[in-house]
Amino acid sequence: MAYQVIIPAAGQGKRMGAGKNKLLLELNNIPVLIHTLRVFEEDKLCQGITLAVNPLDTEEFKYLLNKYKVKKVLDLVPGGKERQDSIYNALKTVKNDGIILVHDAARPFILKEHIHRLLDKAQETGAAIIGVPAKDTMKTVGNHVVMATVERSSLWAVQTPQAFRFSILLKAYEHAKKEHFIGTDDSSLVERISHPVSMVEGDYDNIKLTTKEDLFFAQAILQKRQG
Ligand code: CTP
Ligand code: MG
Repeated sequence: MAYQVIIPAAGQGKRMGAGKNKLLLELNNIPVLIHTLRVFEEDKLCQGITLAVNPLDTEEFKYLLNKYKVKKVLDLVPGGKERQDSIYNALKTVKNDGIILVHDAARPFILKEHIHRLLDKAQETGAAIIGVPAKDTMKTVGNHVVMATVERSSLWAVQTPQAFRFSILLKAYEHAKKEHFIGTDDSSLVERISHPVSMVEGDYDNIKLTTKEDLFFAQAILQKRQG
């Protein structure tokens, strides 16, 4: 079944420290933004992309969409102060009753196979996210003192995309707005309207480019994929 994807791309990349939006940095001479968009551009099940963009980047983004012949972008909407605001701006323009994916532009390594696995689950349950089991021993810490060791088998690191039936996602965003809740992902908003969220096992390669070190991992992943 087809889906539409919202791609928040309106951040400033402060932790990357590149002096510009990290999505404009290049990997193998292609901007990160384009790497991410290509996965959806090439997926037949993707009906359209809504991109949230910082107004300061709009001209450059339009130029890149044209240069790399990205055809599926339906709308460029202005980003907001937080990631959540950017996604809400995009969500308000969506006219699609089916499944909506939300995927960070800063995660260029998502594979089509995993998108489809997620999609199948979201069709079945209304809400599904992708992640990987935690590998490290995890502890809660306060003031640099260990408070407890958390049972690792129940901990997962969460990624995007996250997939939801449109009506559920919209209801979750409206509810969050009403109660002034800001979450670090979309699932946390859906959890607050008490809709169960399914977890699909993804891939450790699906990293988010956040700090400078991530660019080294990104090069290694690209090299591995190119065989
Ligand atoms: N994002 C957005 N609107 C915002 C903030 C973030 O659309 N107001 C997007 C980013 O462009 C990115 C995704 O949300 O694709 C995940 O955010 P993050 O990795 O935190 O990126 P930045 O906010 O750009 O980075 P930083 O927090 O280091 O400034
Ligand atoms: Mg951020």
